Amino acid sequence: MKRRIIAGNWKSNTTWTEAKQLVEELSRMTTGQDINTRVVIAPPTPYLAAIRSGLPPMIALAAQNCSANDTGAFTGEYTAGMLASVGVKYVIVGHSERRAMYNETDEVVAQKVRQVLDAGLYAILCVGESLEERESGRHFDVVKTQIEAAFTAQIGKEEANHVVVAYEPVWAIGTGKTASDEQAQEMHAHIRSLLDEAYGEVASDISILYGGSVKPGNAAGIFQGEDVDGGLIGGASLKAEDFMAIIEANSEWTTAS
Ligand code: PGA
Repeated sequence: MKRRIIAGNWKSNTTWTEAKQLVEELSRMTTGQDINTRVVIAPPTPYLAAIRSGLPPMIALAAQNCSANDTGAFTGEYTAGMLASVGVKYVIVGHSERRAMYNETDEVVAQKVRQVLDAGLYAILCVGESLEERESGRHFDVVKTQIEAAFTAQIGKEEANHVVVAYEPVWAIGTGKTASDEQAQEMHAHIRSLLDEAYGEVASDISILYGGSVKPGNAAGIFQGEDVDGGLIGGASLKAEDFMAIIEANSEWTTAS
């Protein structure tokens, strides 16, 4: 069964004091709630091990990146295995900011997905088109190429549900512009059909998240899409109330007795 997931990508934000406070607030707000959504947070890497020790079991920890290589002489890099050893469960791979600013090609992204799965973790694989690619009508092809390169061409059926796909149109990230509910569902259905071609019925076990300016006010509409299984949230994950409202929009809530 695919999971409903809300993941918060904190990017390079928060001091250590702010990070601790945000985690405390989220812990308080989620405790005692029966949330039918997997909640994931991706704080800055230096905080991961310390945050892990105080995290309630219902919140899973993600890293925002990892090395494309295993251990060795790679100064400044950290491996997926190292992240696993401090309790990280998910790694965001191929975020458009890393593709654009750190020259991460589809090949590098593919290597990282492999490293993440080899370490026994889940990859959150980000894909998405630029504004120019959408306006020229190439968005379905661009996403197809990204999915094939990092996912379906190298990951077998038995591991396929260890990858979560996050569709994030580049023009919607941090811009306040979101894809319409229909545009999101249409692309998610396209991704689901690519996964279906590659993996058959396993495709229905793979979670596909939407990301790009998701806020409390637009979350419910986007998450209604049949193939939209949750969201990857940037800016709005830095405010506990907003993040909780988005989790709520993605969940059926019942108060634990
Ligand atoms: P945003 O970022 O919600 O601030 O647009 C989303 C992301 O980059 O994952």
